[in-house]
Order: sequence, then structure tokens, then C-alpha cells
Amino acid sequence: MQVKTPICLLQLLLLHSLAWVQARRGFGPGDQDWGYVEVREGAHLFYWLYYTTANVSAYTDRPLVIWLQGGPGIASTGCGCFEQLGPIDIEGRPRDSNWVQHMNVLFIDSPVGTGFSYVEQPHGHYAMHNNRIALDLVELMHQFLLQYPAFQRVPIHIFSESYGGKMAPEFALELHLAEQRGELVCQLKSVVMGNPWTSPLDSTLSYAPYLLQMGIVDHVGYRDIAGVAAEIARLVYAGKWLQALDQSIQEVIETHTGGVFLYNTQRRVHVNDVYRYGEDPQLREFMVNNVTRTLNLTNMSEWMAQNATVFIKLGGDIFKPAVDIVARLLDETPLRVGVYSGMLDLLCATPGTVNWINRMQWHRKDQYVSATRRPLRIKGMLEGYEKQGGGFSMFWIYRAGHLVQQDNPAAMSHILREFTGFG
Ligand SMILES: *[C@@H]1O[C@H](CO)[C@@H](O)[C@H](O)[C@H]1NC(C)=O
Ligand SMILES: *[C@@H]1O[C@H](CO)[C@@H](O)[C@H](O)[C@H]1NC(C)=O
Ligand SMILES: *[C@@H]1O[C@H](CO)[C@@H](O)[C@H](O)[C@H]1NC(C)=O
Ligand SMILES: *[C@@H]1O[C@H](CO)[C@@H](O)[C@H](O)[C@H]1NC(C)=O
Ligand SMILES: *[C@@H]1O[C@H](CO)[C@@H](O)[C@H](O)[C@H]1NC(C)=O
Repeated sequence: MQVKTPICLLQLLLLHSLAWVQARRGFGPGDQDWGYVEVREGAHLFYWLYYTTANVSAYTDRPLVIWLQGGPGIASTGCGCFEQLGPIDIEGRPRDSNWVQHMNVLFIDSPVGTGFSYVEQPHGHYAMHNNRIALDLVELMHQFLLQYPAFQRVPIHIFSESYGGKMAPEFALELHLAEQRGELVCQLKSVVMGNPWTSPLDSTLSYAPYLLQMGIVDHVGYRDIAGVAAEIARLVYAGKWLQALDQSIQEVIETHTGGVFLYNTQRRVHVNDVYRYGEDPQLREFMVNNVTRTLNLTNMSEWMAQNATVFIKLGGDIFKPAVDIVARLLDETPLRVGVYSGMLDLLCATPGTVNWINRMQWHRKDQYVSATRRPLRIKGMLEGYEKQGGGFSMFWIYRAGHLVQQDNPAAMSHILREFTGFG
């Protein structure tokens, strides 16, 4: 018999030492760490890790959730961390519904050029298509998992919102493939997309009927908005992606609705408010002053709520769908895939999302189709509906627009728990 005990002890000690916290005092409560990864020459992604504040013996007892923001070009470190799910808001007030109390959270400013992420040369280093974004994120994870090896054993879940919902599936697929090739060790479990821009044309075609049925336009508005949407459809079918993006459908909607708030059609937004996409007007000032100084990022390019260059460089990709990638995740990986949709959102309206899901083909689709759609009741209150089967889950969420976490944290907590076991 081999003398196994010393080796086991050594392994235990090694495992234990791997779980030591590599942390600094960051912004707000709890242990944090942050830094840059040069994902390509001259292209730097910024990450900000919040170790869970849950009362656990080791942070590795809880999963790691990666949060990806939309835009493209809106920062996860700003909108995600301080407006939605981080431990405090920009006034320093604790957030009851924060995710860090349940799990480790990794905010990533993606694509490069977003938030604290930057490119050394304005020309040539920005991402111009979704696969580039995905590969940059995989390289970030590659370096991250080497630098924080304890997370190699921790279940990972990717949560995303809006354009993040277009980046997340391809990121998840490429991360899974890299893991299969043995390039990195990780325990990726699920990918979840909130009000995702996964099928831009389906979202666009839903605007006119959605607004008509909500009573926000009448048949005149319907006709004009549907007319622009039809033109966008023609351009998308012809592969004229940039021209599709150039159509001013949002202006036509604004004219006919008196400026309805695209991200939550029922939100009370004052006509003079510059509030948009969950961002306080003071967010940028707070990020540039308080956060930049505290994290000692003072020599970095200036943080902005949405870097327009990032958006423009991706212009030719914005109207391309990513439904085929979602289907590949379902067919080629063991990952759980989820979509949730706040029903008051116009930008990625629920009817458009339901349409692409209905059309999407995957092997186990019949299990989803035949699954029972269940009411989602929390503490006796109806918060929406859920339907799960064939590896896919869909959640319809009441009283929420584009940002479900912000508008209906109770429902979001249910979704979080469904995938991660915590929330
Ligand atoms: C943390 O958990 C331990 C063990 O379960 C318990 O004894 C302790 O009271 C908890 N602390 C807090 C602050 O809840
Ligand atoms: C941000 O900085 C300003 C000016 O120094 C300060 O008054 C404010 O309290 C800070 N906010 C937070 C949340 O730390
Ligand atoms: C976006 O950020 C880069 C630095 O990464 C900066 O050079 C560029 O001017 C920014 N774009 C806009 C439109 O401000
Ligand atoms: C901030 O970073 C600079 C280098 O960029 C370093 O010299 C300095 O010691 C850092 N300060 C703190 C408080 O970490
Ligand atoms: C900031 O300073 C660090 C350390 O001095 C350096 O490595 C890095 O390139 C600097 N970043 C920028 C954007 O100048």
C-alpha cells in the first residue's frame, strides 16, 4: 500500500493556501481586488472583484457571478455596480438587494474602451465584432483564473443585461471551448441574459405593436413606427447592418409618444431629467472623482458612462443576431441558459424576445415547449411567470423595464437563486 496520507495533507494545505484572499480595501464594504489584463497587445480590460460578504468559512463556498453591462460601451463598474447590484450606491448608502451578500461578483468593463478599460491606440484595438469581444473576455478569464486560482474550483455563472445579453452567449461558448481544449480550468455553469439584444430585428419589429397595445400610440403612430421597422427589416435581410443602425426609429417613437422612456415605459421621468439607462446624472462625477481616486487609477483614461467610440466601432455588428450562438450553447454544451424579460421595457420588448425564442431551434426544444408555464409568486405576490425545459429557462417579470434588478429586485433574487442556489 502506498503511503498516501502526507500527500493528501500536502494537497489539503495547498488547496487551503489557494483560498487565501488576495484582497485590498476598495470602495464600500468587504474585500475587493481589481486590475487590468492586457487581452491583446494594446488592449486592456478592467475587472473589479467583490468577495462575498456572506457569513461563510471561505469565500470559495459561494459561486462567482460575472456581470456584463450593455451599450455597447456602458460600464459594468458604474451602472452595474453602483446603480444595480453592488453593496452601495453613489451616495454610499447600503443596497438591501445587493448580490455581494450572497456570492462573489466580478464586474468587467467590456468591450475594451468601456469604463476603466482602455486601448493604447484609438485605431485598431477596439472590438469590431462580437467574437472579438468574446475572445477578449476569455483571455481575461484565462489570466484571472491564474491569478486567483481558488476560483478554478468555484461554480461560475454569467449574468448580463441588454447588449451584454448579446456578448454573454458567445463569451460563454468560447470559454467552454477553451476549457474543453484544456487552456484553462473553470467551472462555468450557466449563462443568463436580461432583456437581451439577442435578436435586434425581433426587438425592432415589436415596437409598433407593443406601443399600440399598451395605448402609448394610436394607429397613426403604429403606421409610422412599423414603416421604419419594415425598412430596417429590409436592410437587415440585405445584410446592410450599418444602414439598419442608421434608421432613426427612436426619433420617430419619441415624436409619436411625447418622449416615452424607452427603458421603462411606465417610469415617471421628468421632462428635464437626463436620467437614462439606470444612470444617475451624478454617476460619472462619482466614478471619476471618488472611485478613480480610491482605486488609485488616476493615470488611466477617464471613466465615462458610455464611450461612444466603442459603440461606433461595433456599428456594423449591432444589428446582427446572436440567436444561433444561444442554440449552440443549448446543443453543444452542458450549460444552463436563461433569459429574463422585464415587461415594461421597450428597447428589448418582451414580445420580440418571445418571438426569437419561439423560432430558435435546438435538440431538446420539445421539452421546453411542453413544459408548464408557472406563475412566479413571491411572498404571495404575482411577480411574473417562468417556463423551464430542455436546458432553457424563460422568466417574464412584472413591474420591471430594461433593468430588472433595479425595478424588481425580489423577482431578480428568485432568478439568481434559480441558477446559482443563492440570492
Ligand atoms: C456566522 O456563522 C457562524 C457559524 O454558523 C455563527 O456562529 C455566527 O453567529 C455567524 N455570524 C453572524 C454575524 O451572523
Ligand atoms: C465622493 O466625494 C465627495 C467629494 O470628496 C464627497 O463629498 C462624497 O461624500 C463622496 N461620496 C462617497 C459615497 O464616498
Ligand atoms: C473612448 O475612450 C478612449 C480611451 O479608451 C478615448 O480615447 C476616446 O476618446 C473615448 N471616446 C469618446 C467618444 O469619448
Ligand atoms: C498608486 O499607484 C502608483 C503607481 O501608479 C504607486 O506609486 C502608488 O504607491 C499607489 N498608491 C497607493 C495608495 O496604492
Ligand atoms: C499607469 O501607470 C502604470 C504604472 O506606472 C503604467 O504601467 C500604465 O501603463 C499607466 N497607464 C496609462 C493609461 O497611462
